[in-house]
Amino acid sequence: MTTDGYVPAPADRFSFGIWTVGWQGVDVFGPAVRPPMPADRAVRKLAELGAYGVNFHDNDVFDFDASESERDQRIAAFRQALADTGLVVTTATTNLFGHPMFKEGAFTANDRDVRRFALAKVMRNLDLAAGMGARVYVCWGGREGAESGASKDVRAALDRYKEAMDVLCQYVLDQGYAIRFAIEPKPNEPRGDILLPTLGHALAFITELEHPELVGVNPEVGHEEMSGLNYAHAISQALWHGKLFHIDLNGQHGPRYDQDLRFGAGNARGAFWVVDALAAGGYDGPVHFDYKPPRTEDDDGVWESARACMRNYLILREKVRAFRADPEVIKALADSRVSALSEPTLAAGETWRDVRAFTPDIGALAGRGMAFERLDQLALEHLYGVR
Ligand code: GCO
Ligand code: MN
Ligand code: MN
Repeated sequence: MTTDGYVPAPADRFSFGIWTVGWQGVDVFGPAVRPPMPADRAVRKLAELGAYGVNFHDNDVFDFDASESERDQRIAAFRQALADTGLVVTTATTNLFGHPMFKEGAFTANDRDVRRFALAKVMRNLDLAAGMGARVYVCWGGREGAESGASKDVRAALDRYKEAMDVLCQYVLDQGYAIRFAIEPKPNEPRGDILLPTLGHALAFITELEHPELVGVNPEVGHEEMSGLNYAHAISQALWHGKLFHIDLNGQHGPRYDQDLRFGAGNARGAFWVVDALAAGGYDGPVHFDYKPPRTEDDDGVWESARACMRNYLILREKVRAFRADPEVIKALADSRVSALSEPTLAAGETWRDVRAFTPDIGALAGRGMAFERLDQLALEHLYGVR
């Protein structure tokens, strides 16, 4: 066991989905490689590692077809583990993708009965989530999508998606739950094309809802990077809109299948800027990891990877702080005129009339270097550990 400064404390507010460390490794080419992990075991082990909270799907705690008494037993064991360890439930969500009935979607299934059952399933888990103190409820529409053209009327699907979110917001309001929803975008997988594929699609969709104030986003590193997008930019824009209600941190190597690597693996440079964007402030939710311990790992490897998510965050946080405090970086930022962007383009009291005829020294502006290479090299040197 390494003993250094990268030891998580509850104040770091690290949380994990129960399904992350509980993933048994079932993939399209092979069956489970690890035994099932009861939610209470996940809670106890995560607490030992220094986590602060957990997030759960209903069916991470009890099976889809559990009897009422089995359901109650599983929930009681989960609650007991939370009480014994002091871990909190920060977040909850619904499994609307695993059961065969959801093969064609949940909120946007063509089959109306599937849609009605999906709503009932969410409401039932909202009751549990609220009782456990969750403040955020994630909606990941993994099965809302299509593989083929004519099979899905996309505009009707968006009508139904909106209807579902409106019903659920009304439910939370009527029940008096202190819960807000966070939509999690993803471009594809398991569907060929998923609705609300990126952060931008989700943000635009939210403006059409009855209660946009209750709905934000839960961007995942890998999901934005699957589309070749910049996650640090995504969370910065979500913060700008006041919509960053939750984050799913993990790792991804470019546009390919959803890798769900541990945080800090994959695009390490991107991870540096993610931590930098979060360190800039404005996000007060849990620092949540949604990753999958690879199939190669046994139980020890599962905990090693969970520990590594938190360690990598702490290592990067130290590097980011050192980068921001470095006098050469401060000078490089000034040379790159980064803070000048915070000055409004028009002075107080000015209108378009004042800039309509603005004529700067065109040649001087065109010839002006921005010194960004120096600035970025300093960041890389901090990341590479030579500064
Ligand atoms: C993914 C998703 C899921 C969801 C989770 C919440 O990797 O495709 O991240 O893991 O976040 O299931 O519903
Ligand atoms: Mn993912
Ligand atoms: Mn996720």
